[in-house]
Amino acid sequence: MSNKSFYITTPIYYPSGKPHMGHAYSSIIADIFARFKRNDNFNVFFLTGTDEHGLKIQREAEKNSKDPKLFCDELSSKFKELTNILHLSNDDFIRTTEERHFKSVIDIWTKLEESKDIYLSKYKGWYSVSDEAYYDEDEIENKNNIKYSKISGSKVEWVEEESYFFKLSSWQDKLLKFYNDNPKFILPLSRRNEVVNFVKKGLKDLSVSRTSFNWGIPVPTNSKHLIYVWLDALTNYLSALNYPNTKDEKYKRFWPANIHIIGKDILRFHAIYWPAFLMAANIPLPHRIYGHGWILSDDKKMSKSLGNILDPIEIINNFGVDQLRYYLSKEVSLGNDGNISFKNLTNCINNDLANNYGNLCQRVFAFINKNCDSKIPSLNKIEKEDKKLNEEIVKSISDLRNLIDNQELNQYLKKVINISFNANKYFNDQKPWSLKDKDPDRMNTILYTILNQIRSISVLLNPIIPIATEKVLKTLSIEKANINLESLKNTEELKPGIKLKKTDILFKKIENDN
Ligand code: MSP
Repeated sequence: MSNKSFYITTPIYYPSGKPHMGHAYSSIIADIFARFKRNDNFNVFFLTGTDEHGLKIQREAEKNSKDPKLFCDELSSKFKELTNILHLSNDDFIRTTEERHFKSVIDIWTKLEESKDIYLSKYKGWYSVSDEAYYDEDEIENKNNIKYSKISGSKVEWVEEESYFFKLSSWQDKLLKFYNDNPKFILPLSRRNEVVNFVKKGLKDLSVSRTSFNWGIPVPTNSKHLIYVWLDALTNYLSALNYPNTKDEKYKRFWPANIHIIGKDILRFHAIYWPAFLMAANIPLPHRIYGHGWILSDDKKMSKSLGNILDPIEIINNFGVDQLRYYLSKEVSLGNDGNISFKNLTNCINNDLANNYGNLCQRVFAFINKNCDSKIPSLNKIEKEDKKLNEEIVKSISDLRNLIDNQELNQYLKKVINISFNANKYFNDQKPWSLKDKDPDRMNTILYTILNQIRSISVLLNPIIPIATEKVLKTLSIEKANINLESLKNTEELKPGIKLKKTDILFKKIENDN
């Protein structure tokens, strides 16, 4: 087993309704990075799950006349099903209603109390149940006599109750120093600046318990209070590693997390509250928080109240899972918001997947089946064009690795698609079909070179479109367990004489209605 480890997480989702495209997006993005790291010989732990406590869930369960636990069981299972539908490679699925999670939340709370970072007082202010967040007076606006958060647009209500507070204010300077010492802790940089400016304006102590409902984890020393759902939820990242047992192999190997992938709406919780809680509890901080943009539907963030929810399952049933994964990672610029449309989805499938990568594989395999007895040809007359093509890939590996390590997913894909475009061009320019009788040695060398390109492109695209690339690699007798980035440096890895396995069609072209 590799000694390089990598721990990556998605946010844990509120099972307050069925999963939608926004949830699918966070998960797909995290899965792509997890898969890339596995192919790059890292020992990866990839976590996702559901965030099941709090007033939002309690009210939703009440609306549906269900016991909150049963309500969560039903909806959490939909999120779990989605992990399969999206073809996620998660190693665990955590639910905050599990015993292992309670233990770790209680431990964190106890540590914060012991370090005197928690005190009892009274909260008076605005609360959004939908965001499970407190807002200041200047973050509220009034529309038709209803109060909304200016930040999220969700309704807020007035809360006045006894509450425990976390001394967030006393962590302000330490947080600023940490951001300064770790300039890539928050990415993309625009989000880092937002957070730094917010913290510089001054932090107020944070209410971390509620008394007016009962669905949550009670404060260990005062069961009238429930632990604030965000303190509860964030701790999931530790619970899955068997924290508080810090001697546990999983904890030792994977904490601190390498990256928490989240949406920009939950940046404050991850980039301010979470590191402050951890510092106070004397636990090492994660290396990175990456806040992606939103998937917009009709130019707006999807939400139940707006009724503009896009269902990932419906899209997958109509277009395919690789197709959706590819489209979201290529066409939405990772740090920014992106509108998605069926027209763009169709174009993307047809141009990049069917016409470019898919066509390259099908054409080459068909040619070899017909002219080379379906066998991987031998390499015997290498020319400079072949070397150049091979060198391009070998040279680009470290750049591609860097792009992924900085979450520059769009740049990464652009580069890989360009490699695929060049491979198609090479095939057209070299015209192996014209050499069949004239120079079969040269024809074989061209075919070997192009198969090596197909192998390389498939390995590079594997984190994004795992199903199709695994089919292609299987055709070349490369099994899933042997998909490996380093192997691209060996341009003679394919074994001549081995028969190509059968592949069915990779990507169907989509008829455009317009
Ligand atoms: N339960 C909290 C997260 C706790 S993490 C310790 C939560 N859940 S959520 O279900 O509301 O949202 C989870 C993730 O989905 C967030 O990262 C959010 O940004 C993402 N998305 C929800 N709608 C989205 C879009 N329309 N577009 C992209 N992602 C968005 O917040």
